[in-house]
Amino acid sequence: MKTLYFAAIAGVLGVSNAQVIQGNYTGPLRPQVHFSPPQFFMNDPNGCFLDANGTWHLYYQYNPTDIVIGNQHWGHATSKDLYHWENQPIAIFPPDNSSQVFTGSAVIDVNNTSGFFPDQDNGIVAIYTLNTPTKEIQAISFSRDGGFTFTAFEGNPVIDSTTTNFRDPKVIRFQDNWVMAVAFSTDLVIAIYTSPDLKNWTHASNFTHPDVGALFECPNLVELPVDGSDETKFALTISTNPGPNDGTVMKYIVGDFNGTHFTPDPTDDVVRVVDAIKDSYAGQYFYGVPDGEAVFIAWATNGDYASDLPTASEGWRSSQTLPRRNSLVNIPGQGWDLVSFPFDLSPVLGNQLADTASVVNDSLSVDYSNVESNAIYFEANITGLSSASSSLFNFTFSSKTSGESVSGSYQFADNTFVLDRNNTRGFDNKAFENPSRFNVSKPLDTDGALSISALIDRSIIEVFLNRGELSGTMLFYPTEPLSIFSISTEAIPQDAEVLVSVWGLESVWV
Ligand SMILES: *[C@@H]1O[C@H](CO)[C@@H](O)[C@H](O)[C@H]1NC(C)=O
Ligand SMILES: *[C@@H]1O[C@H](CO)[C@@H](O)[C@H](O)[C@H]1NC(C)=O
Ligand SMILES: *[C@@H]1O[C@H](CO)[C@@H](O)[C@H](O)[C@H]1NC(C)=O
Ligand SMILES: *[C@@H]1O[C@H](CO)[C@@H](O)[C@H](O)[C@H]1NC(C)=O
Ligand SMILES: *[C@@H]1O[C@H](CO)[C@@H](O)[C@H](O)[C@H]1NC(C)=O
Ligand SMILES: *[C@@H]1O[C@H](CO)[C@@H](O)[C@H](O)[C@H]1NC(C)=O
Ligand SMILES: *[C@@H]1O[C@H](CO)[C@@H](O)[C@H](O)[C@H]1NC(C)=O
Ligand SMILES: *[C@@H]1O[C@H](CO)[C@@H](O)[C@H](O)[C@H]1NC(C)=O
Ligand SMILES: *[C@@H]1O[C@H](CO)[C@@H](O)[C@H](O)[C@H]1NC(C)=O
Ligand SMILES: *[C@@H]1O[C@H](CO)[C@@H](O)[C@H](O)[C@H]1NC(C)=O
Ligand SMILES: *[C@@H]1O[C@H](CO)[C@@H](O)[C@H](O)[C@H]1NC(C)=O
Ligand SMILES: *[C@@H]1O[C@H](CO)[C@@H](O)[C@H](O)[C@H]1NC(C)=O
Repeated sequence: MKTLYFAAIAGVLGVSNAQVIQGNYTGPLRPQVHFSPPQFFMNDPNGCFLDANGTWHLYYQYNPTDIVIGNQHWGHATSKDLYHWENQPIAIFPPDNSSQVFTGSAVIDVNNTSGFFPDQDNGIVAIYTLNTPTKEIQAISFSRDGGFTFTAFEGNPVIDSTTTNFRDPKVIRFQDNWVMAVAFSTDLVIAIYTSPDLKNWTHASNFTHPDVGALFECPNLVELPVDGSDETKFALTISTNPGPNDGTVMKYIVGDFNGTHFTPDPTDDVVRVVDAIKDSYAGQYFYGVPDGEAVFIAWATNGDYASDLPTASEGWRSSQTLPRRNSLVNIPGQGWDLVSFPFDLSPVLGNQLADTASVVNDSLSVDYSNVESNAIYFEANITGLSSASSSLFNFTFSSKTSGESVSGSYQFADNTFVLDRNNTRGFDNKAFENPSRFNVSKPLDTDGALSISALIDRSIIEVFLNRGELSGTMLFYPTEPLSIFSISTEAIPQDAEVLVSVWGLESVWV
């Protein structure tokens, strides 16, 4: 993500090398199971990888000196479970006072292809954009201590350019090569480069598609498992704008990759949205995840208002989405669908507040004001519905004191899902308010059954229909904490069942 705010704020400002920046996570808007920076401004996830000891590394676009974008570094955090993060010292600093370290990725060079790593198999190479006053160029840095401290390659840049719109390299391993997807953002081109050694890159192909959007950023070329088979397919994800609800959005195309070229599936050459609603951008897949699993995390906000979010008074701005497991399904009559569901939530599940409660033509209300984190998770399974049913499933999170609420509704007659933040009043911002009620119409593979789950975490909610066949992320800013959860259903047929479980969540920060 690059914005116009930059020019004004460039410059390396006093942050020392080995310092872990401390965070205060008690603010009423501060998420408790999502990652947010200890202080100041965060944007895109960068350099995500899983090391051989089972430690997940998350780097992120970070301004360590101000609450708006600028002065970009790579912040760093590590986790054993993708929820409990340990803040680490800043990993990558700008090389001079007129450059910034923009978005990029990291790989484990187990075979020392780069030559940086005598006598070790856990060398890390970070590949990122250096934003200079005259151009954006691709550079690399290497780490001999497993990803904590980095040294810039003396031969940088590894890919030079003459343009200020060439950024966000994402590198994967494919057969005997390193493969980079990188955006020529305003040319609406994703270029593929290949390299034997991460230093010498050869241009292999250019990809474009007329249905993506007006700016290309943060591409990922990713091999995804196809549910219920041993197959995999590639997807190319591109962050762009405008989205269906204005502002920024992340999209994807499913196809094949042969080492040099990405080709959309000729039978289903369709550009789709990764995450519904409005608040997910610049997502990245972790490198080094075994067994063909695809694990994903994104910047949970929208470019329209990212630098204005009303959390500045709490000393931080932006969180990442929940970590998600991704796969593909092919829905009959619909085509490829990206499935995106939270990575194993068990490390944060706390007390159960409702256990498979039946809610048929009825309502269920749970007061969660005693849950210290003020964060909860629910899942509802609805079975035995005919497809043309007029059934309705509603849920609401509301404040006891201010009357504010966030609500959702699924209408089975036309497969319409609505998520609504209009009845919250903590953020006075035109782009945030319009729209503030999101309608998503997407046929799912229901077969008379549907599951709806959602995780709400103080100022962010993520909703999952059919275990991630549809996923959506929405920010909201109440003036008082929301602490009453209710579900109601209507017109549920005689032989149908609605079973609901609700859990309080344990804060990962306090
Ligand atoms: C932490 O943040 C809260 C809410 O923003 C504030 O009330 C509190 O004073 C802060 N605590 C410290 C130790 O700074
Ligand atoms: C795993 O941990 C051990 C012991 O702390 C360390 O020596 C080794 O370098 C680590 N391996 C990786 C891949 O980081
Ligand atoms: C950037 O400027 C600051 C303040 O003038 C100076 O202390 C610092 O050494 C400079 N950093 C680099 C990398 O040139
Ligand atoms: C490293 O080398 C081994 C042995 O040649 C090979 O099996 C493996 O795929 C290589 N791994 C990577 C990431 O290059
Ligand atoms: C790694 O590569 C460098 C440069 O080619 C070489 O000097 C070094 O011996 C290599 N280390 C191993 C363990 O292969
Ligand atoms: C870079 O790779 C190209 C193509 O493989 C090769 O022709 C060239 O010699 C390499 N350059 C260096 C400096 O290794
Ligand atoms: C690939 O796209 C870039 C950006 O538009 C352009 O500069 C370059 O010439 C293209 N390369 C080829 C081989 O078409
Ligand atoms: C990859 O696909 C491109 C475009 O279809 C084709 O030109 C190229 O020959 C293919 N490469 C391989 C190794 O099959
Ligand atoms: C369910 O939500 C829809 C959409 O917001 C609303 O029109 C309807 O009145 C709600 N029904 C109930 C029973 O709350
Ligand atoms: C949102 O709420 C305001 C009152 O706060 C109301 O005027 C407006 O009509 C609502 N918008 C929608 C789409 O419901
Ligand atoms: C639920 O209400 C509808 C009318 O809206 C009725 O037709 C249906 O039989 C009721 N379901 C049950 C299980 O009572
Ligand atoms: C809903 O279904 C899933 C998978 O089929 C199951 O794991 C889960 O326990 C069910 N939840 C409830 C509340 O019944």
